[in-house]
Amino acid sequence: MKKITVIGTGYVGLVSGTCFADAGNDVTCCDIDQVKINNLSQGIIPIYEPGLKELVHKNVRSGTLHFSANVPQAILDAEVVYIAVGTPMNSTGEADLTYVKQVAKTIAENLNGYKVIVTKSTVPVGTGRLVEKVIRKYSKDQHPFDVVSNPEFLREGSAIKDTLNMERAVIGATSEKAFQIIAELHQPFTSNIVKASLETAEIIKYAANAFLATKISFINDIANICERVGADVTKVSAGVGLDSRIGNKFLQAGVGFGGSCFPKDTAALLHIAEDCGYDFKLIKAVIETNEKQRVHLVEKLVNSLGELKGKTISVLGLAFKPNTNDIRSSPALDIIPYLAEQGAIVKAYDPIAIVETKKQIGYQCSYTENAYEAIKGSDACMILTDWQDVKNLDLAKVKQLMNQPLIVDGRNLFKLERMQELGFTYLSVGRPAIQKDAVISKAI
Ligand code: UDX
Repeated sequence: MKKITVIGTGYVGLVSGTCFADAGNDVTCCDIDQVKINNLSQGIIPIYEPGLKELVHKNVRSGTLHFSANVPQAILDAEVVYIAVGTPMNSTGEADLTYVKQVAKTIAENLNGYKVIVTKSTVPVGTGRLVEKVIRKYSKDQHPFDVVSNPEFLREGSAIKDTLNMERAVIGATSEKAFQIIAELHQPFTSNIVKASLETAEIIKYAANAFLATKISFINDIANICERVGADVTKVSAGVGLDSRIGNKFLQAGVGFGGSCFPKDTAALLHIAEDCGYDFKLIKAVIETNEKQRVHLVEKLVNSLGELKGKTISVLGLAFKPNTNDIRSSPALDIIPYLAEQGAIVKAYDPIAIVETKKQIGYQCSYTENAYEAIKGSDACMILTDWQDVKNLDLAKVKQLMNQPLIVDGRNLFKLERMQELGFTYLSVGRPAIQKDAVISKAI
């Protein structure tokens, strides 16, 4: 059992802290945002993440999880201090380290004995060393400490599962002692520990996210070729994914990736490459393909519908992926304002991300309580998130409700044969277009 303080109660901090508490450690999650801490202390969770609320409540009740806005005190009490503050992307695509540096200084000022300081935030290579330097400077070398890079690989929507049953823990430590302490913390979660240097651990995080983003952009490029030659990308994914060297995950073609990690981390990796004088062409192409994919989906809509002015368009899905209310870099945030700008009347639906979307793009569209309400009377429907309740739509009812049966599906949710039978014009990604009333040869 260790006394752990986690600084920053965002996604990563809150989930990691809660899971460490669940494994029997004494954890204090702290934040300078007093309102957030007050809410958390009352069991109000600022993010939607399946299972998180229950796990927080359980560990608060059992006394292993605490919340505090008194960051210095929480540091004084801890053996291990996790830095899990935000590293937002600045205008040039670089990760902004202001918060990380501030926290490192606060840690230095409250160092009262040996502590392991761990960076959990996704940070550029060299940040671990920078944290070490800042702490050394402000603590005036009065107490021993070690710095560790222990990057996070959890996915939103399955963050608890991903943490409690992680596939691996990457631990880049400045001493064997610190490595052992952090490795022990991870024993309940995984036996796959990758021991590395600080810099290597930092690169592993970027390499993992950039590789996954590359898989997505790659399959989206293949999808665009499939559209030109009349092939079906979902079968291509299945066909190549069965090769165990490739694997079938992250090969789902669609409107492209969003979220808080892939767009930010690919941009940051490009910066890291530029900073060390390397022209990382591949990652540039990954980013560009992803940006174009949103435009491509809108082009499909325009090619089929003609002028958008005065047309009613329903948009299903605002979150960047299902099971989260996170809309950061979500395709909807680009697509809805564009449709509205062209004079379309946009009706949007999402099971849980409407409040966040309103804050971001306001009333450039109207919002509905269910998908059918959005669909009712629309000239076209765009699907942007693969929510289960969108997958489960009664398609016959959808057709009946629409002004004209045109669906542009950025997530390939429905079978082509079914859409053809029902008489939709159905434009998906990397699959043959289904034209209403047209007789097309049956897909194999
Ligand atoms: C990602 C990484 O998976 C995780 O390991 C890291 O710690 C943080 O970044 P997350 O952003 O939560 O997690 O979402 P993820 O499930 O990876 O999806 C990212 C985006 O890729 C979503 O927009 C999703 O729709 C898209 N995606 C994913 C595809 O378009 N196709 C796929 O096959 C898979």
